[in-house]
Amino acid sequence: MKVDISNTGIKLSEETALMERIKNCRRTLLEQAFAGSGMTGWVELPRRIPEELIEKISSCAEVAKDKCSLFIVAGIGGSYLGARAVDDILGGPAAGRPQIVFAGFNMSAAYLARLCRRIESEDACLCAISKSGGTMETLLAYSILKEKLLEKYGAGARERIYIITGDKGRLYEEAEVLGLVRFPVPENIGGRYSVLSCVGLLPIAAAGHDVRAMLRGARDMAEDERWNGELLHYCAARLALQKKGSDVEIFEYFEHDFRYFGEWLKQLFGESEGKGGRGAYPACLCFTRDLHSIGQFLQQGHRIFSETLISADKQPRDISIPARAGRPYAGKTLEQINRCAQEGVVAAHAQAGIPICRISVPRTDEYNVGQLIYFFEMSAALSASALGLDPFDQPGVEAYKTETNRLLRQMDAGGTN
Ligand code: PA5
Repeated sequence: MKVDISNTGIKLSEETALMERIKNCRRTLLEQAFAGSGMTGWVELPRRIPEELIEKISSCAEVAKDKCSLFIVAGIGGSYLGARAVDDILGGPAAGRPQIVFAGFNMSAAYLARLCRRIESEDACLCAISKSGGTMETLLAYSILKEKLLEKYGAGARERIYIITGDKGRLYEEAEVLGLVRFPVPENIGGRYSVLSCVGLLPIAAAGHDVRAMLRGARDMAEDERWNGELLHYCAARLALQKKGSDVEIFEYFEHDFRYFGEWLKQLFGESEGKGGRGAYPACLCFTRDLHSIGQFLQQGHRIFSETLISADKQPRDISIPARAGRPYAGKTLEQINRCAQEGVVAAHAQAGIPICRISVPRTDEYNVGQLIYFFEMSAALSASALGLDPFDQPGVEAYKTETNRLLRQMDAGGTN
């Protein structure tokens, strides 16, 4: 992985004090992780995940492959975005593997009704994921989809349902009562840091991706010497930019398959840093699409943002441009032209004085995706800690739940809303 902050305009002197603070935060985090305290289970996870658990995940994914063409994951937030990001960035399921379809990340009746109709004509498995086991959106999607499976498969539906949850709560009880296959979510790993636990690994394995390679990538990143150098500079540069008034951090990419990785980053940074009136608002843009919409604002609008460009040096596929496309396109490949656009944007934005960090991996395979995941998890945890925040809580998320439940109780009591 390469990290380039030379286009951020941040001087080393500005970074130095921040670097010291980040190093201290890192020391504390690693000590906590070593002692097994706090919500730091994800730090050592790539090294400590038990082999038997990976075996169980892999064999469960093999069984699911023979049972279904549709593997439905019901979950939201960290119990959804990681698996979706990885399956997306790896270009969807491997040959002969079920399509991974997501539910429970909204309460759209139209969306869920469409999914229910698919169960009528396709063989499906259902995997409900919730650490707390009590999240409204997940429970609703699970209960509706479970009914459809019961309608179609009768008692056999139980062989098609998997539960990933903590060791208490409604989903835990459901698994106990019905005797469903259950995978644990470690108590000391929060949702947005859980993609390398069963939460992400089971759906990713069901799609036929190599979870061992992904864990290896994360483990090598955890052990990478460069954490003491250029990688910590990225955290320092982000914080220095925030201090200088960069209220928005735009994660951007030129590959369509990075879309959900961007969504995962939004949650990771938004929930880790966005509290106490602090943190940059994390946004994501997909180029070149968004150059034809928000590109104008980026080039000449209110300068409240910085950019982090994420790319892979080599794409899994390329296409030659037909001769009839004419000059200057004919004779080149689409990837070459996309790369020209990427470098063109960097040059144009640098000329406009927009701070740009660049993060690149050699290619988008499981190993490098594991590297990216661990890199950004550590970056989010360290920069939130350096801002004096708890990276692992999200107290603000409760507010909408409280209000929704109040309205639901009001309906029960016969009131209107
Ligand atoms: O990062 C987090 O902890 C949250 O975003 C959760 O992932 C999200 O709220 C879903 O929670 P649960 O897994 O308990 O259903």
